[in-house]
Amino acid sequence: MATAAAHQTARTHGSAGQEGDIDADDTYQRVFDATVAADERIEPRDWMPDAYRATLVRQIAQHAHSEIIGMQPEANWITRAPSLRRKAILMAKVQDEAGHGLYLYSAAETLGASREDLLDKLHTGRQKYSSIFNYPTLTWADVGAIGWLVDGAAITNQVPLCRCSYGPYARAMVRVCKEESFHQRQGYELLLALSRGTTEQHAMAQDAVDRWWWPSLMMFGPPDDESAHSAQSMAWKIKRHSNDELRRRFVDICVPQAESLGLTLPDPDLKWNEERGHYDFGPIDWTEFKEVLKGNGPCNEQRITQRKAAHDEGAWVRESAAAYAAKHSTRTGVEQA
Ligand SMILES: [Fe+2]
Ligand SMILES: [Fe+2]
Repeated sequence: MATAAAHQTARTHGSAGQEGDIDADDTYQRVFDATVAADERIEPRDWMPDAYRATLVRQIAQHAHSEIIGMQPEANWITRAPSLRRKAILMAKVQDEAGHGLYLYSAAETLGASREDLLDKLHTGRQKYSSIFNYPTLTWADVGAIGWLVDGAAITNQVPLCRCSYGPYARAMVRVCKEESFHQRQGYELLLALSRGTTEQHAMAQDAVDRWWWPSLMMFGPPDDESAHSAQSMAWKIKRHSNDELRRRFVDICVPQAESLGLTLPDPDLKWNEERGHYDFGPIDWTEFKEVLKGNGPCNEQRITQRKAAHDEGAWVRESAAAYAAKHSTRTGVEQA
């Protein structure tokens, strides 16, 4: 174990010692390992391995991109929401997603990443976002299915991230999860209203669930034995549960909820397994997942085109904010002088 003094020095040291300073490197690594092992948080000014930093930047950026791209399929329905109440709920939800993107880009910035660079990587396809948002929202019921299933899967994934070893990411997740829980409930309530409505409304809800169920299961990522980054992320306590474990948990939560909704999940193999204490479910079509990931999903191109257009249209806002900040800092400089 490192001494308390070494611990403090290493934790607040921004980079590993001088070049070739093997002892210092070793101490920093040991302090980092001990901090993670003790379930304490790594903070922005603490020393951390380069690969840990790179993994977090990649994951947080992908998460941030998913939040802002995820605004598109639902924003598509704001003008067509069937009532003022539904419109207000949907607007609040889409705004929440924008906020989630902002917290997450800020968390990535604490690791030294630049927001401009991350957005550039999104726009040029060098960083990914969740494939789920490459599916279209064909009917109003899709807004309900997204809330119930997509936000539901997001919560299952994100609640354990509140205990992630990197402090700023973990803290951002606390608020994100509270808001996601509202998103999930509004989706469930919307589907319930449709399911209890006319025959056509019930059919519309069922059709939406039929289309969103399998892509939602794919949100947990590839099976554990094919997941490239999982083992290291779990050792670093960035990730707390495996993809398959979280997927199982999600299925177990959804089955009774589907029953209460009066809707059927589109999987004939879905059956309670007494021995395992979980539901068994049918095989996932990973070929489809890989195609969507490669950029061949129904909406990949449209999502990025719209994102770039929104970014370009917002250029004047960024320029104005930067000009205001520059003016403000000059004034402050004069006042201080
Ligand atoms: Fe979100
Ligand atoms: Fe959400």
